[in-house]
Amino acid sequence: MQVTAVRSSLLHCLRDPGLAGDVSAIEYFPDAITLVRDGLIERVAPADALLSTLGADVLIDDHRGKILVPGFIDTHVHYPQMDVIASYGTQLLDWLNRYTFPAEIKFADRAHADAMATFFLDRLLENGTTTASVFCTVHPQSVDAFFAESEARGLRMIAGKCLMDQNAPDGLRDTATTGYADTKKLIECWHGHARSLYAITPRFAPTSSLAQMDTMRALSTEHPTTYVQSHVAENRAEIAWVAELFPEHRSYLDVYDHYGLLRDKSIYAHCIYLDDVDRARMTAAGATPAFCPTSNLFIGSGLYDLKQALAAGNVVSVGTDVGGGTSYSMLRTLGEAYKVQQLQGTSLSPAYALYLATLGGAKALSLDDKLGSITPGKEADFALLDPAATPLLARRTSLRDDPMDVFFALMTLADDRAIAATYAGGKCVHSRLGSAISF
Ligand code: GUN
Ligand code: ZN
Repeated sequence: MQVTAVRSSLLHCLRDPGLAGDVSAIEYFPDAITLVRDGLIERVAPADALLSTLGADVLIDDHRGKILVPGFIDTHVHYPQMDVIASYGTQLLDWLNRYTFPAEIKFADRAHADAMATFFLDRLLENGTTTASVFCTVHPQSVDAFFAESEARGLRMIAGKCLMDQNAPDGLRDTATTGYADTKKLIECWHGHARSLYAITPRFAPTSSLAQMDTMRALSTEHPTTYVQSHVAENRAEIAWVAELFPEHRSYLDVYDHYGLLRDKSIYAHCIYLDDVDRARMTAAGATPAFCPTSNLFIGSGLYDLKQALAAGNVVSVGTDVGGGTSYSMLRTLGEAYKVQQLQGTSLSPAYALYLATLGGAKALSLDDKLGSITPGKEADFALLDPAATPLLARRTSLRDDPMDVFFALMTLADDRAIAATYAGGKCVHSRLGSAISF
């Protein structure tokens, strides 16, 4: 039995605060103790109420001045695209061909995949992200490398092998038969093993033949507890291409729907150019959009309308989408999400931004019984934010005694320097506070 106690401020969402940010949905303790036992949150209470009840054997990690928040949840990211980040001068389809596919071909080499998985997970943890829905490459060994490393760190992660049998270069295609067989083998090996969860991962409709689409329907039906992750309606040229490839379908989203890929636990990145019928269908099917603001800006894809999606009942979450996206930091990503909404006349409240990156992300992934808030019984994944990480942050966050104002300053100004420490399953997996971590 392992008991950890953390003393800090604490900020989390008890429920959905809505886009305008109902602060009664937010709980804040200026000085709290978070008690963790065997990887789960056992108790949270103001320090003055809890301190005297703790046994002498309980060691307290004293992080007063830091703000404990639930570990961030990044619902769309590609671990093989680390070296694609900040690639100049293209939009989606050219970007894939010029930069992304060549980088992904290298993952045929297991040693390369192992090294990249290690580097990638270091980046997530230094940014306070403890759960992500992750694209690997077409190579099954890229999934083995990823889960081996995430399990060594005790992380709850979702990942899957890209299914792609056409419109991609040599070395980056499977076939309908091998894609199906390899996915089944990976599901058996990893889904539900330790904290790992598997996502059936069609790259996007243009890279799958009709024969492969049929096998993906079979996979989705045969493994209903797995996730599905893909891309939809990101870029105008992509949408025109899908209309040529699948002329009998009403919309791009309808292609996935026809092949049984719109369901609970299905996550679709971007969703910028869905229409009302598509949005209603996503809600009815239980499928969820991942809003990826830094990617949408960097690749020049478009502006996601969050208000419209929420009005249609969509359960929206936020993804970094690196390498299309430009930062592993969910704080930076929320800051850009705010700007994308500002351009459309909507102000994303800091309360809703916090929700999107924590409890809302957990809800989109059907993991809100396990993650997303600091609630007894949930898994002890959290980050400690340092509101004084830089001189500018220290100055700005000291101006107003309002935790949501502090969070807004952090999502606008902060980066990985403001993540003082990250815990997964109650264990410290990243720290800027001086203690050495080894896996
Ligand atoms: N559509 C198909 N593949 C990708 C990808 O790797 N990144 C993004 N942003 N969109 C895609
Ligand atoms: Zn993506």
